[in-house]
Amino acid sequence: MSRFASSTRDVPATLAVPRHVAIIMDGNGRWAKKRMLPRFAGHHRGVEAVRATVKACLDHGIEYLTLFAFSSENWRRPPEEISLLMQLFVRVLKEEVSKLDRNGVRLRVIGDLRRFEPELQTLIQASEQRTAGNSRLVLTIAANYGGRWDILQAVNRMLASEPEKSGGWQESDLAPYLAMSYAPEPDLFIRTGGEQRISNFLLWQLAYSELYFTELLWPEFNSRALDAALLSYRQRERRFGRTSEQLSGTTPPAAAPTGTRFDA
Ligand code: IPE
Ligand code: IPE
Ligand code: MG
Repeated sequence: MSRFASSTRDVPATLAVPRHVAIIMDGNGRWAKKRMLPRFAGHHRGVEAVRATVKACLDHGIEYLTLFAFSSENWRRPPEEISLLMQLFVRVLKEEVSKLDRNGVRLRVIGDLRRFEPELQTLIQASEQRTAGNSRLVLTIAANYGGRWDILQAVNRMLASEPEKSGGWQESDLAPYLAMSYAPEPDLFIRTGGEQRISNFLLWQLAYSELYFTELLWPEFNSRALDAALLSYRQRERRFGRTSEQLSGTTPPAAAPTGTRFDA
């Protein structure tokens, strides 16, 4: 059993500040193109936006920040760009992990890591271990991550856990096998770069997340931009399937009259 509420089985508490923010960091290439720079310059500048966002989340007391860094479909990009992105990932891990550790940040990486170079895999493991005792902020990097991959790997592991069981699986049976079973579902999803799509990010976990899209390109994102997203989040009414009146308590919850039929 997961220790977190499921948005479909329970009604999770709604707090003024989200516990978990998940971001698709998009628009690095366009940021660079606008400046006549190579795409990589945008990825490079994107690291500064990551730093600013982590700091802002710490300041706001946000408990979980999840960043989509490389999707399972990003292998379709030109090999030079992929190679530069991997080098950047290695460099950033090496340079930033002690600062994260000092600030009480626990680093976790989700995705199918087997496709990465052994050096990167080892570095990821070491960084996770080094920060494993921290709990102020859990920073998750999704790398070679895909929402469909996540659901499938969870289904496979769930089935293997009880090979004799032939059916009757519940949502709560699957949840512990998902890559982010250690975190509550994201309250707030942010995508920069103007596109309004999920691009195979956390498909299962975004079931009831509030979605926020901004035209800002990822290298332009900062604490002010996060504040705007948080303000928008505060103004949302999270109903989780219920009516507005139920939330404000103006009507008693209707008990379904027995024998009521729906005639079309
Ligand atoms: C997001 O920026 C970073 C990665 C996907 C690694 P993009 O590289 O997708 O930038 P655009 O969308 O082409 O501007
Ligand atoms: C989504 O951005 C993945 C990451 C930010 C890592 P993409 O740039 O790959 O998404 P699409 O291709 O525009 O949907
Ligand atoms: Mg993009």
